Amino acid sequence: MIKKCLFPVAGYGTRFLPATKSMPKEMLPVVNKPLVQYGVEEAIAAGLTDIGFVTGRGKRAIADHFDVNYELEHQIMGSTKEQYLESIRGVMANGSFSFTRQTEMRGLGDAILNGRRLIGEESFGVVLSDDLCVCEEGSDGVLTQMVKLYKQFRCSIVAIQEVPEDQIHKFGVIAGEQIKEGLFQISNMVEKPPAEEAPSNLAIIGRYILTPDIFDIIENTSPGKNGEVQLTDALLTQAKDGCVLGYKFKGRRFDCGSVDGFVTATNYVYENVYK
Ligand code: G1P
Repeated sequence: MIKKCLFPVAGYGTRFLPATKSMPKEMLPVVNKPLVQYGVEEAIAAGLTDIGFVTGRGKRAIADHFDVNYELEHQIMGSTKEQYLESIRGVMANGSFSFTRQTEMRGLGDAILNGRRLIGEESFGVVLSDDLCVCEEGSDGVLTQMVKLYKQFRCSIVAIQEVPEDQIHKFGVIAGEQIKEGLFQISNMVEKPPAEEAPSNLAIIGRYILTPDIFDIIENTSPGKNGEVQLTDALLTQAKDGCVLGYKFKGRRFDCGSVDGFVTATNYVYENVYK
């Protein structure tokens, strides 16, 4: 079964400068928890306990976050303040954390390829932590929903969502045949097309389950949109040679890679999750 999950976290977070000048964007807090912890909690809840970060320069705070801070532990031991460490202690008790570096920013496909040694020859999850996904309390998280589908279909799966026309150019977009309610067998995928050239309004959201043959495919994928090696292009090759599914997940997604989305997420989490 799937045990591993990759988190590409090498990006610069330029949209949040100056906040992200010396701090990873993944550590920006949504209320009281860093963005990346939400994603890691979602992965662990889905049984993906071996977390691999594809990281870069200036991202050490992420490694420190998933480690013990002895000084702090010592200071607050036995006090009521310990309760604030509960969630991260739970994550650390249930997960393991490995790190590898992407030395050049050559796109999402390249970031995934950098994680190859952490993954090996098994299927794995991918979380783009900019996409914060919130599901109804007590119901399955997005990755849990996708793992259940994987058990049935044994192929790569991408999370998708309908987006308004003026948003289409920000996403990878799929087209395919609906094989059952909310599930599509993908026949076409385009990275960030202009709305008028998009094959549909079904956008890829930052949750993937990938079979390990994707690594060889990425290696043979030429740079695409913006001169970067695109995971979307590699997945299209995989879809043409075999099968890739698009899954309309149940839940809400917030684009925490943009200031507007980040503020919306913060308000939503404060009102509906934190309180
Ligand atoms: C990446 C993917 C894109 C996907 C998006 C989801 O783009 O390349 O296909 O739709 O994540 O957030 P990014 O937003 O990292 O540029």
